[in-house]
Amino acid sequence: MSESLSLTDNRNGKQYEMPIMDGAIAARSLQKVRTSHDDAGLVSYDPGYLNTATAMSRITLIKGLDGTLMYRGYPIEELVHHSNYLEVAYLLIFGELPDAGQDADWRARILGHLDVEAALRDLIATFPPDAHPMGMLISSLGAMGTLYPEAKTVLDPLVRQRQMHRILGHLPTVAAHIYGRREGLSVPDPDPQSGYLANFLRMTHHFGLKLQETHPDVQAAMNALFILHADHEQNCSTNVMRAIGSSHADPYSAMAGAIAALSGPLHGGANEEVLTMLDRIEKVENIPGFLEKVMRKEVLLMGFGHRVYKNMDPRSTLIKELAYKVFEVTGHNPLIEIAMELEKAALDMDYFVDRRLYPNVDFYSGIIYQALGIPTEYYTLLFALARAAGWLAHWVEQLEDPAQKIARPKQIYRGSDQRAFVPMEQR
Ligand code: ACO
Repeated sequence: MSESLSLTDNRNGKQYEMPIMDGAIAARSLQKVRTSHDDAGLVSYDPGYLNTATAMSRITLIKGLDGTLMYRGYPIEELVHHSNYLEVAYLLIFGELPDAGQDADWRARILGHLDVEAALRDLIATFPPDAHPMGMLISSLGAMGTLYPEAKTVLDPLVRQRQMHRILGHLPTVAAHIYGRREGLSVPDPDPQSGYLANFLRMTHHFGLKLQETHPDVQAAMNALFILHADHEQNCSTNVMRAIGSSHADPYSAMAGAIAALSGPLHGGANEEVLTMLDRIEKVENIPGFLEKVMRKEVLLMGFGHRVYKNMDPRSTLIKELAYKVFEVTGHNPLIEIAMELEKAALDMDYFVDRRLYPNVDFYSGIIYQALGIPTEYYTLLFALARAAGWLAHWVEQLEDPAQKIARPKQIYRGSDQRAFVPMEQR
């Protein structure tokens, strides 16, 4: 059996042989398929990249059909139960779990960057208090690009590492200031001694829920949620991080773009939308009516469906388990009943079964955040904080991959042919 694809161009009967590697043909080999000398060759047309691989990646593996997710070969379930967010960040970026010395150094460098410049705090203070946290976060990352000019030297591995320490260190502090701005609260100085996530919760006054200060289960839940959100291979925002990074823009600018992509309701913004949806449904009796609307395509069932998972999203299973642990500490969130009934009813309907639509990571995460007392507008911000590790891992991988080039897709032009300019008075 030959690892190749034989192709006949029926326009002229010419035959081509294209090597298959890792289950893929190189899209560029299609360029050879042409009808004349001045024909630019065949292209593949793939809006939304439904079937286009843009990277040879070693970071995350999703097996969509059996619902498996692994970071660098480690199943997500094991990492959630045995690891912590900063260790997972190291794993994603450097490819291996750190040994004790590497772990201590990594942590110290990141925690050494918890303090942010006054300019950044001042910038956040200029936003109207009702500005959306994601808008403030996008701007903060853009501003960071102006504060550290050395970051432009993206081909220097040491410079890259310094920016990664700074980004992971600064993000929770920036997020805490965004929270403080919106809620009208003063923000305590960061305390590296308390640890990465515990310091973040401290700086946000535990999002108003004092109980979190003392309860280890709540911190464990935050840690699990951060790990579950840390990477998801070539998703929309990671693709943006890679695309911007491919022009050798600094990582702050690239991450500002990735955060913007994440904010959309079809991507990370869905976690906020799920809560709005559940609030609107209000009670279990209203579920059938709501699902009728979904099937008439008037609304989407937010938190359902995924481009890659066509069976179940393992993250949603883990998050559902986590929700009940958190409720033991915080008290029950009644929205979970609506969510579970909604899931059950949907999975019984041909509409969802035929389209292989299942709950995704966003379906239950917001219910936990709400039980923790965190206002809805911050859910996507928390997603961004966690996903920073994955974005950075992909940014580095891409810069170190000699096969990568500036991202520049093709188009199929359907506009008008050349025509003469029409002066205003003749239009
Ligand atoms: N509710 C209702 N119908 C849906 C949903 C949904 N949540 N998701 C997909 N469908 C339908 C589509 O209308 C389409 O139906 P059709 O075949 O009759 O035209 C079919 O299922 C296939 O859906 P696509 O939109 O083509 O699938 P795609 O892979 O492009 O989109 C996406 C995936 C964006 C996640 C989609 O399922 C969706 O919009 N979900 C709701 C938003 C959401 O939860 N996003 C978070 C995703 S996870 C993350 O990004 C972190």
